[in-house]
Amino acid sequence: METVRPFITREQIADKVCELGFRISEDFQGDSVILIGVLKGASIFLADLARQITVDAAFDFIAVSSYGNLTQHSGEVRLLKDVDESLEDRNVILVEDIADTGLTLSYLKNLFSARRPKQLKIAALLDKKCRRMVPISIDYVGFVIPDEFVIGYGMDLAGRYRNLSEICVLESSAAM
Ligand code: IMP
Ligand code: MG
Repeated sequence: METVRPFITREQIADKVCELGFRISEDFQGDSVILIGVLKGASIFLADLARQITVDAAFDFIAVSSYGNLTQHSGEVRLLKDVDESLEDRNVILVEDIADTGLTLSYLKNLFSARRPKQLKIAALLDKKCRRMVPISIDYVGFVIPDEFVIGYGMDLAGRYRNLSEICVLESSAAM
């Protein structure tokens, strides 16, 4: 059985998302952005972040496979669903729930930079920096966290817990 320990409260998340939205709005003042959320984990972060952005903002979503049902990275990233729109000459912000090994974000950064965006930025609510296997620079980071498995606010363990409104640490599990 898993034990779930509260880690980042709703208020702390809301304050941070507000701060990130403010920075993005400042950086793209007078211009527009397209937010690209990585399904499914980033959907809740994207929904909240988008509402804190005051410049014109479109959304799109992509899906990649990395974790499957386990808490370990498979080492390989595969695109399961691409964006619907052209990214050429647009201000693209990739929106991810958490950066861990960095494999997913570096794969996506390479993929999307080949599509000639005007700018390509990355926003990640959480950053498990100590787990990085490939270097990746993240432009808008919410919280740098230690090496713990987190769930809630979109993040899951085998599809569960995404609907928790705060971020929790999973202390033990048969799946781990
Ligand atoms: P990376 O490619 O190793 O950086 O992995 C990024 C992806 O792994 C994220 O989009 C998450 O879906 C998943 N992930 C990494 N750490 C966690 C965690 O602590 N909880 C839930 N999902 C995680
Ligand atoms: Mg994810």
